[in-house]
Amino acid sequence: MKDILEPISAATKEFRAHVLAGLAGTPKKISSRYFYDAAGDKLFQRIMASEDYYVTRAEDEILRDQTDAVLAALFNGHQRFSLFELGAGDGAKTKHVLRRALEQGRDPVYHPIDISRHVLDQLGQALKKELPTLRYQAEQGEYFEAIERGFSDPSEAKAVLFLGSNIGNLDRARAIDLLKGVARYLGPNDRFLVGFDRKKDPATILRAYNDSEGHTREFNLNLLHRINRELGADFNVEQFIHTPVYDPSSGRALSYLVSTCDQDVHIPGAEAPVHFNAWEALHTEISQKYDNAMIEDLATHSGLRITAQFTDGKGYFTDVVFARTDPER
Ligand code: AVI
Repeated sequence: MKDILEPISAATKEFRAHVLAGLAGTPKKISSRYFYDAAGDKLFQRIMASEDYYVTRAEDEILRDQTDAVLAALFNGHQRFSLFELGAGDGAKTKHVLRRALEQGRDPVYHPIDISRHVLDQLGQALKKELPTLRYQAEQGEYFEAIERGFSDPSEAKAVLFLGSNIGNLDRARAIDLLKGVARYLGPNDRFLVGFDRKKDPATILRAYNDSEGHTREFNLNLLHRINRELGADFNVEQFIHTPVYDPSSGRALSYLVSTCDQDVHIPGAEAPVHFNAWEALHTEISQKYDNAMIEDLATHSGLRITAQFTDGKGYFTDVVFARTDPER
């Protein structure tokens, strides 16, 4: 275990406080936002490339095959516009839209927003090679701060993307907070495109969260490895099993790590060892699946209205374009 007196960063302090509070509660839970350290980022790339995780392919198909219609819905014929992307990652799907805009002789400025400087630097290098004429301004930081900085010119056409059903990793209240938070900045002609993974055959959904190559299992268990690595804990990772479940009524896919035996875990800074009973579950992730009524419910409670929507051939995924209901402020 790490020496408890070792100096630690503010981010590690915040992580430790979250983990200790989550493990002290009943039921135990830790947020999936802590999945994404360097190892977690790599595992997520493997999940996205896997046969069983349909989510990425379905949205890629929409943005690749319906690019002109998506561009029209976002920018209504404007030649110059700014495209913001929350949590841009490798920007793979967005490149279809940007490439097409450049082919049409338009002059977009792309503002990928991400917490990670590393992710933005890699994306910048890829864009320089693949789309050398694209104007590009990375925004590092929290989503709302970055939008506020970038939305300074009210006369310019703007759109925000939140792809990949990242919204599904938030519960309803948090999803509404995020949508409302972005809506606040939208002018009458600005648009907000959000990717929603739809309800579908429960077996298809369960397979996506329990892929046959075991990437999702590793991705979940990496959270315990990360706690060991960064907080000096002594989780015996082999004594936990990755257990995804899907409730077709609520549309919630939930991931758990289940303890296979009675065990204690020591975390430096905790007042006492954390005890797991045999078969006790640690909740790690929600991946909400939506139907039309649920999307409309979110829009209504966030001050947004739907202006367009695009679905893939199998009906698995929908990119919904929103405008602000009352843009007069
Ligand atoms: C990032 N997010 C939308 C993914 C999802 O489907 O909930 C994360 C993920 N978790 C397990 N597999 C993929």
